[in-house]
Amino acid sequence: MSLLQVENLSVEFSIHKKKLMAVRGLSFEIKEGETVALVGESGCGKSAAVQALLKLDSVSHTTGSVRFCGEDLFKKSREELSHFRGKEIGMIFQDPFTSLNPTMKIGEQIIEGLVYHKIATKEEAKTKALELLRLVGISEPAIRYSQYPHSLSGGMRQRVLIAIAIAMNPRLLIADEPTTALDGTVSTQILALLKQLTSERHTSLLLITHDLSLVASYADRVLIMYAGKIVEEGSVDDVFLRPKHPYTQMLLQTLPRLDLPKTQTIVPIEGSPPNLFSKPTGCPFAPRCPRAFDQCKKEEPPLANGSACWKPND
Ligand SMILES: Nc1ncnc2c1ncn2[C@@H]1O[C@H](COP(=O)(O)OP(=O)(O)O)[C@@H](O)[C@H]1O
Ligand SMILES: [Mg+2]
Repeated sequence: MSLLQVENLSVEFSIHKKKLMAVRGLSFEIKEGETVALVGESGCGKSAAVQALLKLDSVSHTTGSVRFCGEDLFKKSREELSHFRGKEIGMIFQDPFTSLNPTMKIGEQIIEGLVYHKIATKEEAKTKALELLRLVGISEPAIRYSQYPHSLSGGMRQRVLIAIAIAMNPRLLIADEPTTALDGTVSTQILALLKQLTSERHTSLLLITHDLSLVASYADRVLIMYAGKIVEEGSVDDVFLRPKHPYTQMLLQTLPRLDLPKTQTIVPIEGSPPNLFSKPTGCPFAPRCPRAFDQCKKEEPPLANGSACWKPND
């Protein structure tokens, strides 16, 4: 069953009276229990898209429709939306150093939502918080409960943020670059924890990342985003083994591979994404694309059969 349906989502920012089109007609869905990865270079609109889903920022102009369990989120009042945030849809953000309130004890931050949404009394919430701390792999939960965020390492803080996000058993978790601020080993542990918790609880996960290499082990389906649009979508196997869009193919070539000698140099994609102050004429990837031909410079290709390309690799 479809849990989240996003249709034609567009997000614009006004900067010095100019319009920046951060997200341009994004459509995708997430099914119950499914992990979908949204992947793309920094600045392609991933965060703007998820912030817009939950109307988390008030500065952008957002159009399109977002349905969660069939209900239109954009038709909801602020109060109704606050019911969805946290309770039905949990969020984990990039930076565990700034996402926690430095002036509140860890435990209080975990029980806040449970008490606010009247899911538990303060006493019940405390028992649940200790259980959650244990569940996310934090030792000595009773001690951690009464500590402030500054006494925890980055990895531990991200574990606390995961505990907060799953406290109310949301049906969907959105994790926006949850490991970017962490080092390699810690980030693998955090992703493994997210994967384990979501599969045990049959929670859907929208995993946002700029790092395609993380996706193969954690996602069921992949959406590749470029310049505010989805340019390729498919199962992990489709995207990794049978990529259609030249951008996806080039991204895959930038990944370190175990089957190649260490001396093999990784070729970065040359050029940079377009600025989005004006609607691109033609395919926004054309200036960087080795397969571009006349039509690519004139008309932007629609997403069809899994890719937005006039000359996909079939
Ligand atoms: N609050 C904002 N005000 C103005 N521009 C913004 C704001 N947030 C994001 N942008 C712009 O929107 C584009 C997409 O940004 P973002 O969604 O943060 O990218 P990503 O998460 O993929 O790195 C960028 O050009 C960024 O500068
Ligand atoms: Mg981002």
